Amino acid sequence: MIPTVEWRDGQVRILDQTALPGTVQFVDCVEYEAVVEAIRTLKVRGAPAIGVTAALGIALGAGQFQGTDPAAFQSWFIQVCDRLASTRPTAVNLFWAVERMKAVFAGEAGTPIAGIQARLREAAQAILEEDVRINHELGRHGAQMIRDGDHILTHCNAGALATAGYGTALGVVRAAWEDGKYIRVFADETRPVLQGARLTAWELQQDGIPVTLITDNMAGALMKQGKVHCCVVGADRIAANGDVANKIGTYSVAVLAKAHGIPFYVAAPASTIDMRTLTGEGIPIEERHPLEVTQVHGGPTIAPEGVEVWNPAFDVTPAKYITGIMTERGVFSPKDLAKHFG
Ligand code: MRU
Repeated sequence: MIPTVEWRDGQVRILDQTALPGTVQFVDCVEYEAVVEAIRTLKVRGAPAIGVTAALGIALGAGQFQGTDPAAFQSWFIQVCDRLASTRPTAVNLFWAVERMKAVFAGEAGTPIAGIQARLREAAQAILEEDVRINHELGRHGAQMIRDGDHILTHCNAGALATAGYGTALGVVRAAWEDGKYIRVFADETRPVLQGARLTAWELQQDGIPVTLITDNMAGALMKQGKVHCCVVGADRIAANGDVANKIGTYSVAVLAKAHGIPFYVAAPASTIDMRTLTGEGIPIEERHPLEVTQVHGGPTIAPEGVEVWNPAFDVTPAKYITGIMTERGVFSPKDLAKHFG
């Protein structure tokens, strides 16, 4: 897979996911504000990828400081962190990464500015590499729940593109495929931004893993015909009680799965579990621009001029619909999160 995000020649290089699958192009960020813009405009998206990119953006921003005054450097650093943290509200991995970079900064008090800048670059790179390693571990645990011949329904893109590599939900798919299980993924197209059609279908096709694209409203009929054996989705934030925020439409899939007796799994790293948010009610849900709904991926307008639009980017699936949470530490019941991650 092409890296989602990486350090390259002192810059942050981001694969522009808004151009996929038609065009493979990159955004080379020389300044941290370009990273802020790339996250805001979904050039890079997916909870773990947002966290990793924010860490790289903070390191890039810290490196832009040219003065010699430690106090001025500290206020510059805080401003860079705040800008990155302001990009999107729902994925907790973003705030997790910002906190981690702040802790690195705090741990370097007294170090010359150039030393702190180098340390922040190393820390961001470590977060990136750790994400790939965690996804492999998560995939290995999650794949134990997948049987040979399973049809797996997924929603949105929780793949290599949504992480620094390998993916969470699609990491489970990849691990099952690498185990020699002959599986098939049904990818919901995921209106309005079409992450399923544009990204999940693309990356699975690249890897030669069987994938069938459906529109979101086909999932129920497919389940009724017995053609879905389990669902695996990613997460943007998991509350302490096991409620899960993920791409809008995930809740509908979970309810349908329950109605058809189909296991519904959430695959996410521990950094997505937010023990400070007690229930799904406390998860902030991003609302995005109406144009995402009144047009299909920037195409012609499909709705009457001036129509009111509601466009939440995420919804919350209550824990009672979730069979298990697949993490790098194992697969847990949503009810047991506090015991293992508290
Ligand atoms: O708006 P997006 O594309 O950032 O939303 C992404 C999702 O909802 C993913 O399912 C989630 O971040 C998990 S990615 C491993």
